[in-house]
Amino acid sequence: MTPQAFRQLMRLHPAAVNIIATGQTPHRTGMTVSAFMSLGVEPPTVVCAINRSAFTYAHMADNLVFSVNTLSVAHIELAKLFAGQASLFGDERFDEQQWGPFDSGSPFLHDAVMSLECRLIRQVQESTHCLMVGEVISGRYNDTAAPLLYRDGQWVTTSEDLLMVPIEAAGMR
Ligand SMILES: Cc1cc2nc3c(=O)[nH]c(=O)nc-3n(C[C@H](O)[C@H](O)[C@H](O)COP(=O)(O)O)c2cc1C
Repeated sequence: MTPQAFRQLMRLHPAAVNIIATGQTPHRTGMTVSAFMSLGVEPPTVVCAINRSAFTYAHMADNLVFSVNTLSVAHIELAKLFAGQASLFGDERFDEQQWGPFDSGSPFLHDAVMSLECRLIRQVQESTHCLMVGEVISGRYNDTAAPLLYRDGQWVTTSEDLLMVPIEAAGMR
């Protein structure tokens, strides 16, 4: 398959939008990442795919800790900022009002849908990217925040309506 055909297919894959962050003031760095998922629960582990040319990649590898911050619909501008679209870099991307530090030092976003504090336990190099495996140390959440998704070049969200199907009607009993 050509890269173009692959890219076209992957545009249809809906993905939650996160900011992966690492480091302490004034050396924080962070980037917008959709390639993130839970890996296992015993122990709690997650994985994200980071382009090795990203500024944040080397800092994650040096610090050996990072955070995952799942964005809400209120965070579209933040998602663009951390994707480099405002030409701000490193610590310039962090607003003091919006961020605090986890005990391990990684920044967490106060009103994220959820934030995880992670310890980097493994790196798997694959072509342009590196799979960064993290063991989750702690987490926080805001259960009223609606998640931000990216699909086909658009910022979208989930439809709560679809979640209202009664369990028995969905054949789950
Ligand atoms: C919606 C969206 C999702 C993205 N997902 C990823 C991703 O999963 N992995 C990645 O390496 N870059 C991803 N990017 C690109 C990075 O956010 C971008 O290259 C960023 O500027 C890298 O920051 P840095 O070089 O300052 O660390 C994504 C960008 C957007 C807009």
